[in-house]
Amino acid sequence: MHASAFFVLLASGLVLYVPRLSELVGRRPLVKDIHFDTGLAWMLALALVVVLGDRRGLRRTLRELDGFDHDDRLWLRRIPRPQGRFNAGQKLNFALTAAFSVLFAVSGLLLWYGERDNRFRFASTIFLHDGLMYVSLVLVVGHLYLALIYPSTRHALRGMTTGSVRRDWAARHHKKWIDEQSQPGA
Ligand code: HEM
Ligand code: HEM
Repeated sequence: MHASAFFVLLASGLVLYVPRLSELVGRRPLVKDIHFDTGLAWMLALALVVVLGDRRGLRRTLRELDGFDHDDRLWLRRIPRPQGRFNAGQKLNFALTAAFSVLFAVSGLLLWYGERDNRFRFASTIFLHDGLMYVSLVLVVGHLYLALIYPSTRHALRGMTTGSVRRDWAARHHKKWIDEQSQPGA
């Protein structure tokens, strides 16, 4: 859900942004509507996941994503340290993606209101929205490389699509997670 909405927003946003693409595609009002409505659907779908989803599971995942411990700080300095269910790079990717989603939504809504009411029109809104697009593009390319191409991490895609990963792979990449699972009562 998140990936499809993001790619539709990216593609339609680029058509609005790059003059040659705008000319090629034409129909600017339609592209604008697709962009804005996808943004609304994206926010609504995320809210529905929280409201109707497995909230206990989401809270646990949030805890696993949220805490940076000493091992994570060393790992980011390329000192090999055992990692939990998410490694420090994944935690950073999550923090940036979450913050960017909020900023995209706030700046997008301001762009939309600004067209209708001058009081909401600020020169910096479009710079923020475009800046987020550039940084997200770099993040997503790196993310896709690790998820689809890089041999030692691409096994995580199985986790994303089927919900499980091989135990020996997890023991190599997410040792602290495996240790937690092996504790009695876990
Ligand atoms: C809740 C999410 C979002 C909302 C509500 C939103 C809304 C908007 C609005 C209202 C515009 C102005 C359209 C115009 O007047 O031409 C716009 C432009 C744009 N958006 Fe979004 N957007 C969202 C997310 C995104 C995302 C995720 C990306 C890219 C990854 C993106 C990329 C762009 C780009 C490149 C433009 C063109 C800006 C320019 O002309 O300089 N947007 N967006
Ligand atoms: C088709 C495109 C995509 C694929 C194949 C993909 C694949 C993956 C995989 C394999 C994981 C790791 C799950 C795990 O280790 O448990 C993941 C996690 C994640 N993805 Fe994606 N992803 C895609 C698109 C996106 C997009 C567009 C975004 C954000 C704009 C995104 C943000 C995240 C975040 C924040 C996480 C959790 C932290 C992390 O593992 O880095 N993904 N994704």
